[in-house]
Amino acid sequence: MIHTRLTGEYDLTVPFVSAGMAFLSLPPLVAAVSNAGGLGMLAPGPEPPMALKQLIQATRQLTIRPFGVDFIVETTGFGPLTVEQHVEVCIEERVPVVVFFWHLPPVSWIQRLKSSGTKVWLQAGSLERAQEAVAAGIDAIVAQGSEAGGHNQGAAGLFTLLPVMTGKLSVPVIAAGGIADGRGVAAALALGAEGVWVGTRLIASQEANAHQEYKRRVVAVRESDIARTCIFGPEWPDAPMRVIRNRVVNEWTGRDTKTPPQPDPPEFIGTMRLGDQEYRMPKFAAVLPTPETTGDFEEMCLAAGESAGLVHEIKPAAQIVTEMMTEAERVIADRLVALLS
Ligand SMILES: Cc1cc2nc3c(=O)[nH]c(=O)nc-3n(C[C@H](O)[C@H](O)[C@H](O)COP(=O)(O)O)c2cc1C
Repeated sequence: MIHTRLTGEYDLTVPFVSAGMAFLSLPPLVAAVSNAGGLGMLAPGPEPPMALKQLIQATRQLTIRPFGVDFIVETTGFGPLTVEQHVEVCIEERVPVVVFFWHLPPVSWIQRLKSSGTKVWLQAGSLERAQEAVAAGIDAIVAQGSEAGGHNQGAAGLFTLLPVMTGKLSVPVIAAGGIADGRGVAAALALGAEGVWVGTRLIASQEANAHQEYKRRVVAVRESDIARTCIFGPEWPDAPMRVIRNRVVNEWTGRDTKTPPQPDPPEFIGTMRLGDQEYRMPKFAAVLPTPETTGDFEEMCLAAGESAGLVHEIKPAAQIVTEMMTEAERVIADRLVALLS
């Protein structure tokens, strides 16, 4: 068994956290990770506060273990993704951990959550942002390396960013980016992380709310098929993301530092459901294909990190957690310790 500050302070049996992934990280995935002894992370994406409440309650039907909620602090084409009522819902529902990403939330939100017993984390891509967060009262930092999938603020690769952060911060640091097997877990622990935060590997889990074709591509692609681009996002412009290369990404390579203007007349690349509404996906849509999405996958945003090159099979999430952690133990005991003799 691997014990860290994360397992001790958060009542986990493994130092494994599933990344909050908007559209994909819904109750079945969250509960599967928590039931496997890790910390599942619910990602409400653009869902309003009342829908979040239902998602939290649905998660509780599937697990009695701790889990968290991941919020993006940004105003997008859907409006502000996180508002004070979202925070109030987490307080009412006594959610054990709330994680913020992109911007720091108002200090009053951090204080409200902490005083009601919720731990508050920030996912940060630079030491400066992490230090600002710790000064504002944040309990732990998720260090996002530049290899990470999805929206990405990583100022450097995880092999540099992680020891920079763990050397300077007093709060626990959890490693995010490029970790898709037990070797990556062992490396992150060696660099001072108290746990791992895993996104891309879990897209290819049975429970992730991703379209089968999206999962198939995560399994099929190599690390060199992943690009960092800003083309996706009439809903959230000019934000760098790591995605799988497809026709639209390749067409815009070299001109992809900003989201291109919408074509006139408008073009649509597919349809999906957002809440109980049908959403027509505009050209360059940044939303991710869920099981009921239809349209042209060569035009869609297929967020994934470089670690897609390490993903070879769709599996149940609990099996992914257990196999990664068992492999990490083996790497530490059989490879690293053996190197000393
Ligand atoms: C499909 C996908 C969606 C993501 N959505 C979110 C999100 O909604 N909120 C968030 O904080 N991070 C999001 N991220 C970033 C992850 O939190 C994390 O930084 C990343 O997955 C870690 O790297 P990895 O993908 O190599 O495991 C997303 C990542 C992916 C792959």
